[in-house]
Amino acid sequence: MEIILAKSAGFCFGVSNAVKLVNELTEKEKSGIYTYGPIIHNDQVVEQLREKGVESIDNIDDAIPGRHIVIRAHGVAPQIYEDIKNKGLILNDATCPYVKKIHNLVNKKCTEGYDIIIVGDKNHPEVIGISGWCENKSSVVDSIADVDKLDIKNDKICVVSQTTLSRKKWEEIVEYIEKKYGNVVKYDTICSATSKRQDEVDEISKIVDMMIIIGGKHSSNTQKLYEISKRNCPLTYKVETSGDLPPVDIKKIKKIGISAGASTPEWVIEEVIKKMSDLNNKQRVDMNEQETEMN
Ligand code: F3S
Repeated sequence: MEIILAKSAGFCFGVSNAVKLVNELTEKEKSGIYTYGPIIHNDQVVEQLREKGVESIDNIDDAIPGRHIVIRAHGVAPQIYEDIKNKGLILNDATCPYVKKIHNLVNKKCTEGYDIIIVGDKNHPEVIGISGWCENKSSVVDSIADVDKLDIKNDKICVVSQTTLSRKKWEEIVEYIEKKYGNVVKYDTICSATSKRQDEVDEISKIVDMMIIIGGKHSSNTQKLYEISKRNCPLTYKVETSGDLPPVDIKKIKKIGISAGASTPEWVIEEVIKKMSDLNNKQRVDMNEQETEMN
């Protein structure tokens, strides 16, 4: 059995920065550190941090003034910065620079008189944060049906995407928006780390018998990887840890592909690889070798 691990599996740049920032704070402060929402969508990491005195809160009112608070990579609306200041908390901003760029972009476009359409999940913290920078002149769409429901009168429309959106969905929805509203200003703000990860999963899932996608239950980018993989490889499984791996009939499987969402720590990936490897005397290759083989 051969295991193909995607090169892009695991922490992206933004998540890695956010986790590093919290870890550095725990060394300095020992306790009394807040994160505004779980720092990443991974229960194991959040639990480890809790043991080091890091508490996740969803409401700034629950915080004790004078303590540190970390804004995660997803970013937040301007009102949250205000709330943090008014509460007397010490701000540590781990908003991913790519997300910050979208905040600045939509804010500028609003000032120029545009209505903003965000293509993404309206309940996702990143999208809620982006909406906050649009002075209430934004709509969120996640499907063609959502676009049908829009009733924008403004002839200046700007479209942006959630960073973890699949490119296929972006293209479909933008095409439909253009059909409905004519010329719109569009910015594909899908993060390159996301598209690279999705492209790799698309590529690997076409050549393996089974695919394992590792990531948190609430991680939207993990869910998207799962959906992409499932289209090519019916035997695709989404797991949070090695403990969730399904029983596998090794005799029927020659190649297994593995990838992981942006919030998955390396040690969780290694545990899954080890468990799969233990099932058989496998041969593990990385994507570099695989590419050479495929060429
Ligand atoms: Fe940032 Fe892209 Fe990660 S937007 S948080 S580097 S998925």
